[in-house]
Amino acid sequence: MSDILSVALPKGRLGDKVYGIFERAGFGCPDILDPGRKLIFESPEHGVRYFFVKPSDVAIYVERGAADIGVAGKDILLEYAPQVYELLDFGIGRCKMCVCGRPDFRDDPNRTLRVATKFTKIARDYYAGLGRSIDSIHLNGSIELAPILGLSDVIVDIVETGATLRENGLGVLAEVCDISARLIANKVSYKFKYDAVTALAARLRDTTEVGK
Ligand code: PRP
Repeated sequence: MSDILSVALPKGRLGDKVYGIFERAGFGCPDILDPGRKLIFESPEHGVRYFFVKPSDVAIYVERGAADIGVAGKDILLEYAPQVYELLDFGIGRCKMCVCGRPDFRDDPNRTLRVATKFTKIARDYYAGLGRSIDSIHLNGSIELAPILGLSDVIVDIVETGATLRENGLGVLAEVCDISARLIANKVSYKFKYDAVTALAARLRDTTEVGK
């Protein structure tokens, strides 16, 4: 393995913010500022190579070793439980995983609760912890429509500003957990590129602390 670390970053606003932290930590890659159609950006002098992928794919690249490290939301880590190490909480991309529904919804424990969500494992684990049996309905987006149209009783979804809920007459019924962006590492890379991975993580941690 080379000493260059391959870094999978999530495409979009969160990825741009996270790259800013890498840059401030001393791992900049000027090519990224003028991307064109290029997919991989290399900075041999700083020992890093970046690529941007769909946020939900970062953990797959890292788990399978196509990337040594990456940045993924805690929601993805809880849902897919990839076999990776979690090294740092960046404290950005903060939001909450919540049970949401009509504000007047009252759960009837004698009926199976219908739960629509993109996060089936998180929803199942949460309700299993409460000893509540559910019928989980997997959707890929626009989850808020489900309780409005009677497809489900409630949803388990991410709430960031709360605007989507408010504008659709829904509310938070319970909080499941806090979410934020995490630095993750491939287990083999962590072992065989230990110095490079831990040095980078330490500098990111210092930079993140300064920004808090
Ligand atoms: C996410 C989430 C909520 C919304 C919450 O959806 O599923 O719908 O953002 O944000 P808010 O509290 O700031 O309104 P996303 O934009 O990812 O779209 P999708 O789930 O419909 O694909």
